Amino acid sequence: MTEPEPKMPELIVEPPVKLVVDGVTKRFRTEDGEVEALGPVSFNVKEGEVLCLVGPSGCGKSTMLNIIAGLEHANTGKVLADGNLVTAPGPDRMMMFQEHALFPWLPVLGNVLFGLKLKPKLNAKERLEVAQFYLKLVGLEKFEKTYVHELSGGMRQRVALARALAPNPRVLLMDEPFAALDALTREQLYGDLQQIFEQRRKTVVFVTHNVREAACLGDRVLLFSSQPGRIHEEFKIDLPRPREINNTRLTETASRITHALKSYTNLTKAGGAA
Ligand SMILES: Nc1ncnc2c1ncn2[C@@H]1O[C@H](COP(=O)(O)OP(=O)(O)OP(=O)(O)O)[C@@H](O)[C@H]1O
Ligand SMILES: [Mg+2]
Repeated sequence: MTEPEPKMPELIVEPPVKLVVDGVTKRFRTEDGEVEALGPVSFNVKEGEVLCLVGPSGCGKSTMLNIIAGLEHANTGKVLADGNLVTAPGPDRMMMFQEHALFPWLPVLGNVLFGLKLKPKLNAKERLEVAQFYLKLVGLEKFEKTYVHELSGGMRQRVALARALAPNPRVLLMDEPFAALDALTREQLYGDLQQIFEQRRKTVVFVTHNVREAACLGDRVLLFSSQPGRIHEEFKIDLPRPREINNTRLTETASRITHALKSYTNLTKAGGAA
């Protein structure tokens, strides 16, 4: 017999907060003056949660992700990972970029092994074992020796995913990783990703333009408005997993988010024109 689910709030254990983004603002200085790119923006991400950031082009999504990764610095506010102030990139937070950013001069295995240089405690044999484990996880065990230019776009993104997962970061930061892929390949990856996120208990911040992708992968979706980028609205996605991208309820949820996105984008345009 299976244990009944605890119903009393006192018995529900909330996962700890993994990331804290607290009052972050970012300005860029350009030749034409200053660009108010971000903020103030504040949100938390719980351990094991998948948080999606959605919003119009230029609203600061990549900037936000770069600040969490420690690749950019906020002008004001702070980011905490496991309670520690983020000041630089770290092996606990791996970034996966829109372009796969693999090394064309290395074969598939070499690319995944490269990510493991961040783990100096592993010896060569252990690194090989780990790299092979993750290549198998993304279904590329037969392509170890293949060079990047011989792979399809979807396979390259799988290699990039294996490389990001191999050092076993607790946090994955993904910046439109599938934007360049065809719909069919993307659909396949959504299923794989949901499985990997759950099995490996990752905390994920996932940036996308694709609202349906956000509704499929996210536990929560933050809708950003632009100039400067701020959180406009938050959507909690309570649909059961694994989620299928063409599921009716998922499509309805995505429509709600798209509607919110369109109505405030139109408002902004109307305001700008007035
Ligand atoms: N290094 C930089 N120097 C100057 N301005 C920048 C720099 N990086 C970003 N910006 C500006 O900051 C704002 C936010 O940019 P960002 O790349 O974060 O947007 P985004 O939401 O990721 O857009 P997209 O959806 O098109 O990728 C934009 O106005 C952009 O022009
Ligand atoms: Mg971007």
